[in-house]
Amino acid sequence: MTELKLPIYLDYQATTPLDPRVLSAMMPYFTEKHGNPHSTNHSFGWEAKAGVDVARKQVADLIWAQADEIIFTSGATESNNIAIKGLAYAAYPAKNHIITVATEHTCVLESCRALEKAGFEVTYLPVNTDGLIDTDELSNTITAKTSLVSVMAVNNEIGVIQDLKKIGEICAELQVMFHTDAAQAVGKIPLDMTGLNIDLLSISGHKIYGPKGIGALYRRNDARLRPLALFDGGGQEVGLRSGTLAPALCAGLGAACKIAGNDHDHILALAEKLQLSIIGKLDGVRLNGSETQRYPGNLNFSFEGVKGDLLVKELRNIAISTGSACSTEKPGPSHVLTALGLSKKQIECSIRIGFGRMTTEAEIDYAIEQIIDSVTKIRVRL
Ligand SMILES: Cc1ncc(COP(=O)(O)O)c(C=O)c1O
Repeated sequence: MTELKLPIYLDYQATTPLDPRVLSAMMPYFTEKHGNPHSTNHSFGWEAKAGVDVARKQVADLIWAQADEIIFTSGATESNNIAIKGLAYAAYPAKNHIITVATEHTCVLESCRALEKAGFEVTYLPVNTDGLIDTDELSNTITAKTSLVSVMAVNNEIGVIQDLKKIGEICAELQVMFHTDAAQAVGKIPLDMTGLNIDLLSISGHKIYGPKGIGALYRRNDARLRPLALFDGGGQEVGLRSGTLAPALCAGLGAACKIAGNDHDHILALAEKLQLSIIGKLDGVRLNGSETQRYPGNLNFSFEGVKGDLLVKELRNIAISTGSACSTEKPGPSHVLTALGLSKKQIECSIRIGFGRMTTEAEIDYAIEQIIDSVTKIRVRL
């Protein structure tokens, strides 16, 4: 049995460890293959471009897309900004309305707020107590003025999976564009661009065992899909994202995509063990979000009477969080748990446990023991 190495990392929604196979794929592009992929006059440029081309195809293959439908960006934040603002501006003034969901990632919500300030109308759909939208309500909210529907695939705080197939069908029927923030979904749940009616999809490298600072935007080949670029420059990435590409980061994202998608059984087994043990051995525990429509590597629990920040501190050897890494600098209750209808008290008593490819059963056993111990200790002190 391998020795348990402390501390244990259980914050996989904030970021994932880099897979060593990804690092190997990146290394040559930091050193000998150092060319600029946009230099067309010599072999250094050709070599770097060849690496980028391979990576582009690897990203496309994972989601059943074409290589020329992939635009490299700095991450899902940038992809979401290009998709939402770029499409909203391209459709304006004929259409001035977009629809999103109250539980989206901050970068989607803030992009929408920026559009509101600029005069657009935005509808923030509510979710039910499971964290899922009502697709009939979505249909009823779409008007002739709606250009875009943006609904995330897997939620970063509670792991629930929205019904992308149904949402895509509605958007196709009512002829509005459908964007999904799939930062927490790509490589974790099957995403097939040939069957889902998704027009735009955002990807993040560091959520799938790839490097930080790289992501991609899938944009379906369709003449109507011409988001306005947010940067001006050399016109790289079909004019949508000017700036020199980073071949090492592209190679890393490509390699991460190539090896993705084989962890499901491992993660499901760990999730079942963790969930059953915690709920079975402690009273007053609630799993937040749908029990069935979920990515298993993200479990968000509320422990009655146990403040999440206290629990996180008590669990010194386990890296977990009370919510999204992107909102840790913004104090206040989680907007996701608020949208689910949890009380302020319940929200304060919530933690997110995230695990994945590198998590071992021994680590989960340790986490179960420590969580049960710490929750019990804190409750005794009350
Ligand atoms: C759902 C979701 N969207 C977008 C992002 C932003 O991704 P990136 O760090 O690649 O900009 C994150 C990261 O926290 C996320 O979880």
